[in-house]
Amino acid sequence: PVLVVDFGAQYAQLIARRVREAGVYSEIVPHAVTAEEIAARRPAGIVLSGGPSSVYEDGAPALDPGILELGVPVLGICYGFQVMAQQLGGTVAHTGRREYGSTAVRLADAQDAPLVAGQPAEQVVWMSHGDSVSAAPDGFQVLASSESTPVAAFANDERRMYGVQWHPEVKHSVHGQEVIERFLHDAAGIGADWNPGNVIAEQVERIRAQVGDARVICGLSGGVDSAVAAALVQRAVGDRLTCVFVDHGLLREGEAEQVERDYVAATGVNLVVVDAADTFLSALEGVSDPETKRKIIGREFIRAFERAASDVVAQAQEEGGKVGFLVQGTLYPDVVESGGGSGTANIKSHHNVGGLPEDLEFALVEPLRTLFKDEVRAIGRELGLPEVIVGRQPFPGPGLGIRIVGSITRDRLATLRRADAIVREELSAAGWDDEIWQCPVVLLADVRSVGVQGDGRTYGHPIVLRPVSSEDAMTADWTRLPYDLLAKVSNRITNEVAEVNRVVLDVTSKPPGTIEWE
Ligand code: XMP
Repeated sequence: PVLVVDFGAQYAQLIARRVREAGVYSEIVPHAVTAEEIAARRPAGIVLSGGPSSVYEDGAPALDPGILELGVPVLGICYGFQVMAQQLGGTVAHTGRREYGSTAVRLADAQDAPLVAGQPAEQVVWMSHGDSVSAAPDGFQVLASSESTPVAAFANDERRMYGVQWHPEVKHSVHGQEVIERFLHDAAGIGADWNPGNVIAEQVERIRAQVGDARVICGLSGGVDSAVAAALVQRAVGDRLTCVFVDHGLLREGEAEQVERDYVAATGVNLVVVDAADTFLSALEGVSDPETKRKIIGREFIRAFERAASDVVAQAQEEGGKVGFLVQGTLYPDVVESGGGSGTANIKSHHNVGGLPEDLEFALVEPLRTLFKDEVRAIGRELGLPEVIVGRQPFPGPGLGIRIVGSITRDRLATLRRADAIVREELSAAGWDDEIWQCPVVLLADVRSVGVQGDGRTYGHPIVLRPVSSEDAMTADWTRLPYDLLAKVSNRITNEVAEVNRVVLDVTSKPPGTIEWE
């Protein structure tokens, strides 16, 4: 692999993705990694990421100097570039001057130089730094400079060491991906032969080796991750996988069918559907406090899953088999953010599923642990999963239950479900699916307003549209949907959905608003 040394998580993840987009498998390692640990991984290349610090700060993240002696090709980016400059004997000047945002750099006359070969002499890159490299280490060629940075990129072809002050992983750096590709393919000589598709064969082998002849259980949520994880495991172990889908009655229109019909048709997986709507709705009766709703839904979900899991275990025992594994759709960003903990964990400590009964102890199968979301989608498509599942936008576990402001009833759910379906239909038809992160549709069941329809007065409920744009749901902005589209959605909802006589648009960013209303 190519190892990305992490000096600040969000940068490292983006770099790892860009390296993979160049057809090279990459993984992230913490900056405290030692030279021996790196050597043991036999990397084909090392990328030092950017980070928020200054090399002069107390406690600034350091790098084991032995790493630069391994003879492995290295690309330093931003902070990584400065760490490299400092360790190799160059000078990093503490200028106190910041360079931030789109910046022009000028390539030295050596345009056939490594990293930047064939690129325009003047180009726009994304910068974000305080300190600057003022002198390159001995033996290094200066490749570029900017107005406030005399050494904005350097190279030593003989030692196969390179660095750029800017962020080539950011799209604002117009030729950024080329820099990454030149480093990987030319300087480090790594071929472009990795893609998410060839993860399938590798994972299938791995799952078989892990599971042996035991049986496996998987909870499906209707979302992308669990669907793809289960499909991979199903490829590996076939009928020895049983999936459990808990229908809590808080799903959107068509979602249960997508799992029960389309997903099963595509994969042939053994599916147990638990119709728990009655149980959930009676437990939720009269409850309007958001946190109480969430707690009840969480508790009932665990109970329903446990019951179904126990049945699967009992049936396996009857047939002389044993359920030993539980599939989880954990993704690479979760692994990196939680410190990259190792392999199998005991299910009882795992928050995604909650507490299973004492006597059920499963080891985890997590076939997506090394993958990013877009790669998971690509694999899902390769496995032939339905687009409605693979392309699905995020939807909260508690479902429509936290999109009814007020208590939850079947009628209110039906109202919201219809309005939500209209919104999804119109956004898709207008081509907005890839532009927005998600668009919660909220029913204000505790609010009524006066309206007029036909020749009568109405006294109905408002529907709130909450279209948001986001990278990771941590922050978000409201999406500027075209007025014509909003008008069409509003018309359709007020005409087609009884009880709704007003449609309003939420124009709050996050923060201060959250994406969901509850
Ligand atoms: P908020 O409302 O916190 O939402 O800005 C951030 C993202 O998380 C989703 N969300 C949830 N997902 N279980 C989930 O699986 C939940 O309880 C839950 N609450 C919020 C929300 O849809 C958004 O994408």
